[in-house]
Amino acid sequence: MLNKIKIWKNQNNSSTLRDKIEEIKKLPVPEHVAIIMDGNGRWAKKRALPRIAGHHEGMKVVRKTTMLANDLGLKVLTLYAFSTENWKRPKNEVDYIMKLPEEFLGTFLPELVANNVQVKMMGYKHQLPKHTLNAIEKAMEQTKNNTGLVLNFALNYGSRAEILDAVKQVLNDYNSGILKETDLNEEAFSSYLMTSNFKDPDLLIRTSGEIRLSNFMLWQLAYSEFWFTDVLWPDFSEDHLLEAIEVFQKRQRRFGGI
Ligand code: FPP
Repeated sequence: MLNKIKIWKNQNNSSTLRDKIEEIKKLPVPEHVAIIMDGNGRWAKKRALPRIAGHHEGMKVVRKTTMLANDLGLKVLTLYAFSTENWKRPKNEVDYIMKLPEEFLGTFLPELVANNVQVKMMGYKHQLPKHTLNAIEKAMEQTKNNTGLVLNFALNYGSRAEILDAVKQVLNDYNSGILKETDLNEEAFSSYLMTSNFKDPDLLIRTSGEIRLSNFMLWQLAYSEFWFTDVLWPDFSEDHLLEAIEVFQKRQRRFGGI
């Protein structure tokens, strides 16, 4: 009897989620959502677990969030998984985070392939351990012809370094005559950034109650809508993503106009 009630409850919950998804899909959804996945350490601390347990739980939320984003018809989901500043963390934590792409893709790549998700990465590849890069590159190769959601991992990513590198490339192109000063506008500059193939994020989500950008997509987020929540990343559920998108749908974006 108890089992029957459990099954009924599960069915009921998933149909509520399905209803919400269908409701949200009636209005335009953001094309590009970027997420600063914060609070893994605090989630673990609250449970007297090592910080890495929070990152592992956070990895499972990456899967759920990706599947829902794909279902909703988002074009790009950019996830801040490791910043250029995160190397300052204890070695065991850095080593652990660097193993997560392998574990994640080792387990879920077939599901991503089956769901037409395309895996991408932005960030400085040369500093990544070989095993991390191999896992990402294998996934990028296997999903390169997929046409559904782009799951873009920001890994060893830092926005100031990205902008500086873009400026240096612009100078190079200017000096070698490829670029004229009059051709350099915002659109042209964007093409020098790691996000050159994507539209700027429409919506930025940050979890864990911190209200800052932490060197994330500083140029690209100029006109994005922001949604902050106190929820810690490992507790971030489908309902939270739907709530963020619902709020986004109610916002009026004026891009500086009236
Ligand atoms: C920030 O929380 C989180 C990170 C630096 C790592 C995020 C990584 C994941 C969510 C897993 C990524 C999964 C894949 C597949 C790459 P924090 O540790 O700063 O938390 P705290 O502020 O509570 O200490």
